[in-house]
Amino acid sequence: MAVLDIILAPDPILKTPTTPVAAVDDRVRRLMDDMLETMYAAPGIGLAAPQVGSLDRVLVCDVAGKDEEPRPLKFANPTITWRSDAVVTGQEGCLSFPDHYADVARPEAVRIAYLDETGAEQEIAAEGLLARCLQHEIDHLDGIVFTDHLSALKRSIILRKMGKLKRTRRAA
Ligand code: NI
Repeated sequence: MAVLDIILAPDPILKTPTTPVAAVDDRVRRLMDDMLETMYAAPGIGLAAPQVGSLDRVLVCDVAGKDEEPRPLKFANPTITWRSDAVVTGQEGCLSFPDHYADVARPEAVRIAYLDETGAEQEIAAEGLLARCLQHEIDHLDGIVFTDHLSALKRSIILRKMGKLKRTRRAA
């Protein structure tokens, strides 16, 4: 496994919709494993393929608490098949926007169809933090980042600071 570079916003790849994988093969399984290692190293609770420069429709997440056993989840070709009418607002961050957090309103519960790491069709019902995390990551797979859910003013403030951060890092 390998820790990959995480792409910081703003970057065109973060705005590009992904393509479903044709099959969950060794290449996709390696991508999932590398993404999990990258996510744990960051550390974060979710990571989508565009954040490591891949346009495969793949995401990983683990919302286990610090003192709990890890619960890594790997998804290929996830699609939301049901959303609750109930919407909750909660704080979100993103590994592509280090140190930026904002409240985002999302359905409280969702059902998601996907392929697991063996290529088998699965469906998961998620609520709470897992539902929020999976919706955030599926957004990434559709070229949507969490700042797209904010007001134009909040979004422009965060993007300006991110632009500055990227220029500073390039100069360093
Ligand atoms: Ni994110």
